[in-house]
Parts: sequence; C-alpha cells; structure tokens
Amino acid sequence: MIDFLGDWKRTHYCGTLTADDTGKEVVLMGWAHRRRDHGGLIFVDLRDREGLAQIVFDPDNSAEAHHKAETIRNEYVVAVKGKVIPRPEGTVNTNLRTGAVEILVSACKILSRSKALPFTLDDYVDVAENLRLKHRYLDLRRPVLQDNLILRSKVAQVTRQYLTGNGFLELETPFLTKSTPEGARDFLVPSRINRGEFYALPQSPQLFKQILMISGFDRYFQIVRCFRDEDLRADRQPEFTQIDCEMSFIDREDIITVMEGLIARIFADVKDMSISLPIKRMTYAESISRFGVDNPDLRFGLELVELSDIVKGSGFKVFADVVAGGGIVKGLNAKGCGGMSRKEIDDLTEFVKIYGAKGLAYVKVTEDGWQSPITKFFTDEEISAMTKTFAAEQGDLLLFVADKPKVVNDSLGKLRNQLAKILGLLDKNTFNFVWITDFPLLEWDEEEKRWAAVHHPFTAPMDEDLEYVENDPGRCRAKAYDLVLNGNEIGGGSIRIHQEKVQSLMFKMLGLSEEDAKAKFGFLLDALEYGTPPHGGIAFGLDRLIMLLTGSDSIRDVIAFPKTQKGACLMSEAPSPVDLKQLRELGLKTTGK
Ligand code: AMO
Ligand code: AMP
Repeated sequence: MIDFLGDWKRTHYCGTLTADDTGKEVVLMGWAHRRRDHGGLIFVDLRDREGLAQIVFDPDNSAEAHHKAETIRNEYVVAVKGKVIPRPEGTVNTNLRTGAVEILVSACKILSRSKALPFTLDDYVDVAENLRLKHRYLDLRRPVLQDNLILRSKVAQVTRQYLTGNGFLELETPFLTKSTPEGARDFLVPSRINRGEFYALPQSPQLFKQILMISGFDRYFQIVRCFRDEDLRADRQPEFTQIDCEMSFIDREDIITVMEGLIARIFADVKDMSISLPIKRMTYAESISRFGVDNPDLRFGLELVELSDIVKGSGFKVFADVVAGGGIVKGLNAKGCGGMSRKEIDDLTEFVKIYGAKGLAYVKVTEDGWQSPITKFFTDEEISAMTKTFAAEQGDLLLFVADKPKVVNDSLGKLRNQLAKILGLLDKNTFNFVWITDFPLLEWDEEEKRWAAVHHPFTAPMDEDLEYVENDPGRCRAKAYDLVLNGNEIGGGSIRIHQEKVQSLMFKMLGLSEEDAKAKFGFLLDALEYGTPPHGGIAFGLDRLIMLLTGSDSIRDVIAFPKTQKGACLMSEAPSPVDLKQLRELGLKTTGK
C-alpha cells in the first residue's frame, strides 16, 4: 500500500544533519539509496539533493516501521519520523557529512515505489552515456550531476547579484527573430500566419542588445539561451546559455574591468578561490606565434618555436621548399619524450594529419646527439642553431611541421594540447586565465571565396587600422577580445561599430550588396542613424564555465537535459516527425529522410 503525506512536513534535508542535531526529532523525505538488512536492524541510506543520511529501523523501537522497511527497495520514496542519535563507536563514517549520526525511526511512510533501475546509480563510469541520457531523470539523481546543477544555479545567482549591483538591467530579447546568419547555421521556425515565411531562433541576442543601447538602456545583461545549428563536440551544444552583457559610453578597458570583477566574484563565491586581477593579456598575434591557437592553455609550456630562417637553406628539401614557397617551419620540444616508441610517434603523426599537416618530422636528442632520419640533411651549424632555439636537452623529442602558416600553427597548436594530455600536464584544479586581444577583423574564407568576420560583422576595427578595412583587409585588427580559461574560450566580445557608414562598409567587405545588407540588416542600419552611443559588450558561455568550475569532461554533464552529438534528446526523442496536418497548416512539405 502507498501512504499519503498527510500532515507530515519535512524538517530537514537528509544531507544536512550533523552531530549538532543530535537529540532532535526530525522528519526526512527522500529516496532509498540502499537498504541493508542486519538481522534485527534494517539500515536505509536516505538520499535527497543535499546528500545521504543513515536511517535505522529497530523492531524494538517501532515494529510497524520495521515491518514497512522490509518492503523498501532501491529508489522507493520514503518519509520517516525519528530521532537523531550518535552512531555507535566504530561505525562513524568520516567521508560523509552526516557520517557521525543516524536517525532512529519511530514512524515511516512509503510514498512511492520504483521499478528496478536500468542501471545502478553508483557505477557511474561504466554506464553508457546513451542509456543515462534516455533515463535522464534517474541519471540526474546522481550526486555528481546534482552538485553540478546546484553549482550552476549558484553561479547564475551570483552573476545576477554582481551585475545588478553594478548597474546592469536584466532585459529579455525575443526568441522568434529574423534570420540573419551571424556565423553558424540558424534553426528555423515556420510561421503559420505568414505562410512560407520563417523565424530564426537567435544565435545570440547580439543585434537586440545593441539596439537596446541605441534606445538608452545603458548596461544590459541577460542569462539567455542561444541556438546554433553547428556540428557538435564535447564543448558545444545546439542550445546553450550565455551570460550576455552590453554597455554604452565605454571602451575595452571598462568592459574588461567589470567582467574580470564578475569572474573573480564567481570564483570567490562558488569555489572559495581568489583570482588575481588583472587577468593577464596576450595579443592574438603573440598567441598564434607561441601556441599556434587563439585559445592557449597556459597551464603548461611546450611552446612552439619558429625555425624557418634556420632551415630555409638546408639540405632537407621538404623544409627548404616550403619556406621558398612562402610557408613556414615551426617546431615544438616534447620535453623528456625522447624515449617514445615508433608507434607513439606514428600516432602523433596521424594526429597532426587531422589538421592538414603532411607529416611530422622528429628528432630524438640522445647522448650521441641527434638521432633521426632527417639529421643527415642538416649541417652542424644548423643543428646547433636549432638546439639553441628549442632549448633542447638530452632525452627530448623535437617535432617539426612545415607548411602554410595556418596548417603549421593549427597542427602544432593542437599537438601541443594532445602532448599535455598524454604527459598528464592538465591539472583540473589550476585555473589559468588569459585575455586574447587584437584579433584580426576579417579572414579570407577559402570555401566561400570572400572575407568573413572573425568575431561578428558588428565588431569595430581598431581606430589606427581603419584605413586597412578596404585596402588591406587581412591586416586590419578588431576591437575584439576573448577570455580563455585553461585552453577554453569561455567568453568573447568587442567594441561595436556605432556609425552607419562603417557598418555599411563592413557589410560590403563581407560581400553583401547594398540591397542584401538592407534586406537582412536594414533595421540595424536605420537605427544606427538615430543617435547611437559608442558601445560594446561580451558574452560568456555559461555551460563551458560551469564545465570547468566543476571539472566535468563534457558540457553535457552541466546541462539538465542536453542533446547528443547528433542533436537528439534521447529522453523525449526530439526531434521527431510531425503530423501531416501540422505541416499542411504551415504550408510545408518535406522531402523525407
Ligand atoms: P560568441 O559566438 O563568441 O559571441 O559566443 C560567446 C561564448 O558562448 C560560448 N559558446 C558556446 N557554448 C556552448 N555551445 C556552443 N555551441 C557555443 N557557442 C558559443 C563560448 C563563447 O565564448 N554575440 C557575441 C558576443 C558579443 O560580441 O558580445 C557572441 O555570441 O564560450
Ligand atoms: P619523407 O621525406 O616524405 O620520407 O619525410 C621524412 C620525414 O619528414 C617524415 O618523418 C615525414 O613525416 C616528415 N615530413 C614530411 N613532410 C613534412 C612536412 N610538411 N612537415 C613536417 N614534416 C614532414
């Protein structure tokens, strides 16, 4: 029989009871995590979001409650009345917050039963993720996931407190918006009332927050869902949450200062960690040169070195030809990896090929000097110059890639991260921040054969580079900045273009005709002509930030109901086919799978 709650009221969360509560009469409600029958006594670990408490059914104390306890199975929902007592000597569990006490039950109600679970809630790692996602309601009962989401809630609260305390207004922007592709593909929503027309779910509130600035709502923020139909990875979801901010009458320094304060406050309040401010900065150019990527992980060294000048006249044709053809040769010293096997080096070679490298030349630095198939091509002077540049010592493994700069930097930059993983250099409890500044404004898109905005089309060029926008687009730097934490881009923003003329020029550079620009962004161009304050902002990826704060390996572990790599919700089975009637109402036909 199932009991009703009746007039019972919970007095405490299970996980909060300590020795200080000894002697109290309490009412607890939660899930039976585990039941152990010890002859006369029955022990149940009762679990709620705050943790576990051990409850004890003694037939001498209440025969009726004990009788009920015999029927309790895992995940039954149980309410108990009882007294907090110290655990007998020798049975104290110091790993548990409630480990010094137990609850001697005087009355018990079974509020709900549970079928046998498809997986136990203890063997976390062994359960296939798809099974966990299908039964997400069970998966979310795990203490790890509960803690992740509780921390997420705290971060949202601290963010609201900090930003409202700094004069930011929390304002909402629409989800049904105009399709104005900003980079990724849009999710489209058909309009029933306007047949054949579509809304797009916002990739970010970018244009609306800028227009709020034009309307005078200086200092806006929103903790907001964004939607991007892109290829998914461990740190990307099709819908994700941003802490989105915008300010007027400010420059880059103002934004960086306020946002460093936010980050420091979050780490202080939820991690009890003090972040030393100001956060260090590095230009994009320096980051690419030293680390190959614009999101460098600064928890470890393994910096890239430039070798083009040394090898351009060498007898190794692969290198000399690449430099002669305008490419570069860079290397990285895998400290102490001279003992790597042929197979391990082959694996690294396969790894760099993913990023377009044609090969990975290597040298083992041994007692007898350089040992490598390519040593014979170099003079003693060249070897000694490279040894110096690499700061190479006996026992090191030197790795080289020669190619176009983009391929060299990409492949060695990714290889650097991969080596750090292999060498165990990634400490989850170290938090290393860096602002990357002075991004290029535009980059050449080889596929589309046109210039594309590196951040987004509303980002302002640097004042001193304005002349290059048209004359030498690749050279023009932008007033854009990213915040990088342990190799993850956790936020990005910019000072915006606030002059209609510059914005129109930018659209032209992106290959939009005047008519196209008007059709897509006419409302912005119009608004810019009615008194636009200088403004700028930033958005942080909340999910990524929580992933790093909690030391999770995947963004899916910090989102209550995430999607798979294929964009599916395995629990509700979205996306799914719809009725023909629904399609007809929308004036749509599908071509099927
Ligand atoms: P951006 O596109 O750089 O900037 O996004 C800001 C931050 O959002 C996070 N992020 C994601 N997180 C999870 N899944 C995704 N698919 C995903 N895409 C982005 C990243 C990123 O740093 N409107 C601008 C901001 C601005 O200029 O103010 C924007 O959206 O952590
Ligand atoms: P090969 O002359 O093709 O036998 O290559 C000799 C060594 O140089 C091998 O270890 C290759 O992996 C490496 N190699 C070939 N092309 C490149 C390149 N573009 N950059 C770096 N190493 C390369």
